[in-house]
Amino acid sequence: MRILLFGKTGQLGWELNRTLAPFGDIYAFGPNDLDLVDVDALTNSIRDLRPDLIVNASAYTAVDRAEQETELAMLLNEKVPMIMAEEARKLNAPFIHYSTDYVFDGTKTSAYTEDDQTNPLNVYGQSKLKGEQAIGQVGGAYAILRTSWVYSLRGDGFVSKVLSWARKQETLKIVTDQVGSPTWARMLAEVTSAMVARSYPDSWGYFLEKSGVYHLGGAGSVSRFDFTRAILDLDPRPEEQKVKGLEAALTADFPTPAIRPLTTTLDCSRFTRAFGLILPNWKDTLRLALEN
Ligand SMILES: NC(=O)c1ccc[n+]([C@@H]2O[C@H](COP(=O)([O-])OP(=O)(O)OC[C@H]3O[C@@H](n4cnc5c(N)ncnc54)[C@H](OP(=O)(O)O)[C@@H]3O)[C@@H](O)[C@H]2O)c1
Repeated sequence: MRILLFGKTGQLGWELNRTLAPFGDIYAFGPNDLDLVDVDALTNSIRDLRPDLIVNASAYTAVDRAEQETELAMLLNEKVPMIMAEEARKLNAPFIHYSTDYVFDGTKTSAYTEDDQTNPLNVYGQSKLKGEQAIGQVGGAYAILRTSWVYSLRGDGFVSKVLSWARKQETLKIVTDQVGSPTWARMLAEVTSAMVARSYPDSWGYFLEKSGVYHLGGAGSVSRFDFTRAILDLDPRPEEQKVKGLEAALTADFPTPAIRPLTTTLDCSRFTRAFGLILPNWKDTLRLALEN
């Protein structure tokens, strides 16, 4: 199987580059290999490589900057995935793409299902929603996996930041009113690869029958505040912590250019019914992520 992976330097793409390796030849692109802003080069690369599967972990993910760089966010999160979907369809290659809980406004008090009304509050969420819609219009065999609160221990995602703050500050001020489903990039990559394994031998037919949007975040939900507490409790080197306590705050205490949805727990049961797979509970996964 020839797999074309975009976003190999990102949190998720880095993991996918490893978990997809057993399936065949991977052609993995990061921004240094191909700037996706150059959509002609993108189209030509796909046509040259003629992959059997395209996995897109690339995205414009700078939520606050997107409020200013609207055009760039729309290009990378709407037009680029649309081109990938079109080229994939022409090749009879399934297309796996990721979207976000930020397509919702975060006002629902129970978990969001795929049938719930979208209403993004910021440009990033709007651009990702437009990407979903564009892929849906193209059709073909595709899976759009809406995920949330993705973290990796590489780079400076939320978990790494908390561990770093805990070594420098005595008090951490963390919001209590943002609630979501933390998702370890490695586990999301593992589940994606398990889907690919299940799709053999007729991957096109398998994904064609299941084409659609699926929620896929770590099971359960937690506030940023309690997530932080869990990170500190599971810190593999607690003796290095300087932090003495957590101070509860509200999102309104930290004004940002982009408005964030508050409660975006994802109901992932449609994914489990379709693919027979789960993303385990966020806390069990965090424990695995932090275990030495
Ligand atoms: N992070 C979250 O909390 C979260 C939550 C919900 C959904 N998601 C979705 O999950 C997916 C993966 O997210 P992630 O956290 O892994 O994102 P990420 O770490 O920001 O990675 C994005 C990737 O896209 C690449 N990219 C950006 N602009 C590019 C360009 N012009 N040309 C080529 N490559 C470009 C980035 O390159 P660089 O390495 O140079 O940046 C990086 O490899 C995305 O679809 C995202 O929208 C993420």
